[in-house]
Amino acid sequence: MKALIIVFSPSGHTAKISSYLKSGLEANGVTNQLINITKNENYLYKKNIKTTLLKEVNKHDILFIGGPVYAGHVENHILQIIEELPLPNEQFSDIVVPFVTYGGVHSSIGLEEMGKLLRRKQRKSILGFKIASKHTLTQTFKKIINEHAPNQESYQVVDKALNRVMALLKGDIRDLKDNSKSFCYADAQERQLFNTFSQNHFHKDHKNVSIKQEKCIACRKCIKACPVNMFHFTGDQVKMSDDKTRCILCAECFHNCLANAIEFTYLDKVEKRLKQGYAKLEEPQSGIYPIVD
Ligand SMILES: Cc1cc2nc3c(=O)[nH]c(=O)nc-3n(C[C@H](O)[C@H](O)[C@H](O)COP(=O)(O)O)c2cc1C
Repeated sequence: MKALIIVFSPSGHTAKISSYLKSGLEANGVTNQLINITKNENYLYKKNIKTTLLKEVNKHDILFIGGPVYAGHVENHILQIIEELPLPNEQFSDIVVPFVTYGGVHSSIGLEEMGKLLRRKQRKSILGFKIASKHTLTQTFKKIINEHAPNQESYQVVDKALNRVMALLKGDIRDLKDNSKSFCYADAQERQLFNTFSQNHFHKDHKNVSIKQEKCIACRKCIKACPVNMFHFTGDQVKMSDDKTRCILCAECFHNCLANAIEFTYLDKVEKRLKQGYAKLEEPQSGIYPIVD
C-alpha cells in the first residue's frame, strides 16, 4: 500500500498535521510521499501544475490532501491542485482523504468544496477531517484563538481518522464509497453564504500589503516567510511583486518582520470581525466525517 500526501501550509499547522500523518502511515506499514507545495512555484502556478504532478508523483493507492481554511473556504491553491489532478489512472488513485486545518471559528465549506471538486475529478472521498489550529490572524490580538493547537486532542483526531482509513483499506478498495456528502456539516445559512461568495470576494479589496521602505532593515525574513514568494531582494532593497493579486493575506510577512516594516491593513478588519479574538467557536472543534459515533 502506498500513499501520497499533498499539503499547502502558509503558517505551518497543516504541514504539522501532514508530518504526523506521514509517521502514522509509516507505523501502519504504508510507504508514502509527502509533497508540500508551499513556496514551490511548480505547484503554485496553474500553468506548471499538471506537468509537475505527472513528473513528480509516485504511483499511489490513496491520496491525502490538505490545506487551511481561509474565509470559510479551503485556500485556493489546494483547489487549484485538485483541479489539475489527472483523472484516476495507474499512477493516480481515485481514493482520497481531504482534510483542513482552521482557526476554530468556522471551517464552513472548506471540506465540502474539496469533496465536490474531487467528485468532479472522479475521486471517492472515503472520509474527511478538520483540525482546529491556532488562528494565525489572531497572533497579535488580546486573545489568540487556539494558541497552542494543534495539540494532543488534535492529534488524537488524526489517529482516529487514520485508524478508520486503515480499516476501510483492509477490504476490497473497489467497493469503497464516496462519503463527501457528509462534509456538508455547516448550517444551511452558512453554506449558502460561502457557496455564494468566493474566497476572492472576501479578500480581493485587501490585497494591498506593502513595505515601509524607511523602516525596512533588509533582514529578508519576509522573503523566507511568504508562502507564495511575493518578496525578493534586488540591489539593496527588499521589494514586493507588482502583482498584488497573488498575495493570499496569510500575514506571515507581517508576523515575521523584525522591523515592523510591513503594512498589513487587513488585520484591522479581522480584529473587528473577531472582536479581538473573542469569537464564538465552531462545534465540534476537530472532527471526522462521516460521523460514526
Ligand atoms: C487569510 C486568512 C483567513 C482565515 N480564515 C479563517 C476562517 O474563515 N475561519 C477560521 O476558523 N480560521 C481562519 N483562518 C485561520 C487558519 O485557517 C488557521 O490558522 C490554519 O490552521 C492555518 O493553516 P497553516 O498554518 O497550515 O497555514 C484564516 C487565516 C488566514 C491567514
